[in-house]
Amino acid sequence: MTTTLVRCADGDHTVELRDRERVAERLLKASARKSYDPEVDVDWSAPFDPELFYLPPEAVSLYETPLWDRMTHEERVELSRHELVSMLSFGIWSEIMLMKGLLGHVYRADPTTRHVAYALTETADECRHSTMFGRFIGKTGLRPYRMAWPEFQIGKLAGLVDPPMAMFAAVLLVEEVTDAVQRVAMSDDRVQPLVRTISRIHVTEEARHISYAREELKRQVARTPRPLRRVQASGIAGVGIRMAPRLTRPAVYAAVGLDPRMAYRTAKSSPHRQATLRWAFRRATGFLTEIGIIEGPSARIWRRTGMLSTTDSPAPAPNGLPHRQHPTQRMDEAE
Ligand SMILES: [Fe+2]
Ligand SMILES: [Fe+2]
Repeated sequence: MTTTLVRCADGDHTVELRDRERVAERLLKASARKSYDPEVDVDWSAPFDPELFYLPPEAVSLYETPLWDRMTHEERVELSRHELVSMLSFGIWSEIMLMKGLLGHVYRADPTTRHVAYALTETADECRHSTMFGRFIGKTGLRPYRMAWPEFQIGKLAGLVDPPMAMFAAVLLVEEVTDAVQRVAMSDDRVQPLVRTISRIHVTEEARHISYAREELKRQVARTPRPLRRVQASGIAGVGIRMAPRLTRPAVYAAVGLDPRMAYRTAKSSPHRQATLRWAFRRATGFLTEIGIIEGPSARIWRRTGMLSTTDSPAPAPNGLPHRQHPTQRMDEAE
């Protein structure tokens, strides 16, 4: 283990760097011990239960809004189905970006090293995840929610020009946020068993990806000159801000007969939704702050959006998600 100093607006941060090959060796062993093949490890023939949610209700964007209060149970389930399909569609797009980024990273590196072997192993994991999510979406009978035109076009460039620091920071944001929601979904018996199964598979394999991204990110921060780091850090703040409407596309609301614009505005201004997003982002934003990616100009962007965790977060529900407005209890007290 070595340490390095990262200079930030709020002072110097000491960042610990582990041996890259040893980290990769550990992750390769863990991958060999526990990996899934969703084609054979998932019972795709089991029918959906019309009574059960597709996401924990607290994670549905309209939860605790007047619109939610007026919806029937069937409409709430239907909205959760569309919101999950929207999230998984975004998940597939992000995984394709990551696979292209990892392959771009590997293309320039030595294939005899263990960290390149791990990057290839992770690419194989993501291939299986996208296959699994695609099959799940197909089983719901819904169409995937496609990315909007700008992201679709920008995505074509992934793997060609992406600087590693920005790539791993964006990956970490997506992986940590997805992980937060899937961890509560996988142990919630109000959620469809098939959703719980695919969430469990994804959480297990993503834990290794998160470790890898964190280690690579620390290394990239240490070697990126401060002005360049700040430019990329502001770009990452932009990714964070745009993520929420990409995860839950406004078109999902039309599925339950709501006006998409009005419902989107309701979700956006909902204190519960804002608390849920802060909760889902908390591990990523905490780590990015620790290693000097959220500081100075990028911290100002993050703060303006209200996405950084604060001490007045609402109390969590039993499954860990924020529940009701309660000014004195912090979200992380329940962890
Ligand atoms: Fe994945
Ligand atoms: Fe991943």
